[in-house]
Amino acid sequence: MKLELKSAQTHEPSHSKGTHPMTSPSVTPTTPHTPLSHIACVGIVGSGTMGSGIAQACAVSGIKAVMVDISEEANQRGLKAIRQSLERLVSKEKLTQDQMNEALSHITTSTQYEAFEAADLVIEAATENLALKIKILNLLEPHLKANAILASNTSSISITQLAQVTQRADRFIGMHFFNPVPMMALVEVIRGLQTSDATHQVVHDLAKTLGKTPITVKNAPGFVVNRILVPMINEAFFVLGEGLASAEDIDIGMKLGCNHPIGPLALADLVGLDVCLAVMEVYFTQFADSKYRAAPLLREMVAAGRLGRKSGHGVYAY
Ligand SMILES: NC(=O)c1ccc[n+]([C@@H]2O[C@H](COP(=O)([O-])OP(=O)(O)OC[C@H]3O[C@@H](n4cnc5c(N)ncnc54)[C@H](O)[C@@H]3O)[C@@H](O)[C@H]2O)c1
Repeated sequence: MKLELKSAQTHEPSHSKGTHPMTSPSVTPTTPHTPLSHIACVGIVGSGTMGSGIAQACAVSGIKAVMVDISEEANQRGLKAIRQSLERLVSKEKLTQDQMNEALSHITTSTQYEAFEAADLVIEAATENLALKIKILNLLEPHLKANAILASNTSSISITQLAQVTQRADRFIGMHFFNPVPMMALVEVIRGLQTSDATHQVVHDLAKTLGKTPITVKNAPGFVVNRILVPMINEAFFVLGEGLASAEDIDIGMKLGCNHPIGPLALADLVGLDVCLAVMEVYFTQFADSKYRAAPLLREMVAAGRLGRKSGHGVYAY
């Protein structure tokens, strides 16, 4: 069964029209609600790489997880990924078979946003596309409890902007997990301009319950980690392009000199050179600051189709 996306217009929020976040730093909630103090059930939009990882993290921590994707096949792919990840943890003796079965019993899937009716929090982890995310938020919101919190796992879209298309801007927040979710300890908790203290507290506590370490970040392009990481990768391309050292020596330098587990150029190959370039372009445009200009060599390699591991050739050949 497919999700109905066509009726997006019928669910358009009405409160936010004409209200600009810059002139309204503390938005009064339009729906009466009692603030949540505890999250027992998490809804997740998207059963892909991140959605399935987030569902697994919830389920292992004893929290009910409801994954909604556009097709049953997508949900089955997500469930398969979770099962395989849990099996690896069992084989490494980090989880018992009973704990794995218990975790799986906490996960349900659907192709309908109605399935979010019992959720205390819904984390949107669908494809990275602004128009799609706005459509999804408008469609799912009528199915939420009045006091439910909405979060997005977006890597690059403004949390303030997404909050403003909902009818619960004060109960909207960014929860930026890292890939692979079951292994990565960090969650960036992103406060939009409208996010309330109560919403921040509940989500911050939830990240800890999931066994993660949350850091609190104000909404801005790249948040904190990618804001620092991607310009560092870009700088490695400047250094390589200027012929200061070989690619291998640049990576050895950063591994041994800074204790990084992987060199910046090898990391660029892993992430995708096109992704690194696109992120630099966003920073360059949104900050209007030349310090974010992309390295010419990075641009050249992307133009040549040398995108990294995924194309078989980036800085290194695979
Ligand atoms: N992959 C990463 O390393 C990473 C890291 C941090 C954050 N993110 C962010 O997480 C989000 C998801 O990324 P991903 O890598 O999991 O992508 P993905 O392509 O693996 O999964 C996205 C899923 O969303 C589903 N989807 C699309 N439209 C939908 C709809 N209308 N309703 C429900 N589901 C829908 C797709 O079918 C797909 O299964 C993006 O916003 C991305 O920027 C990704």
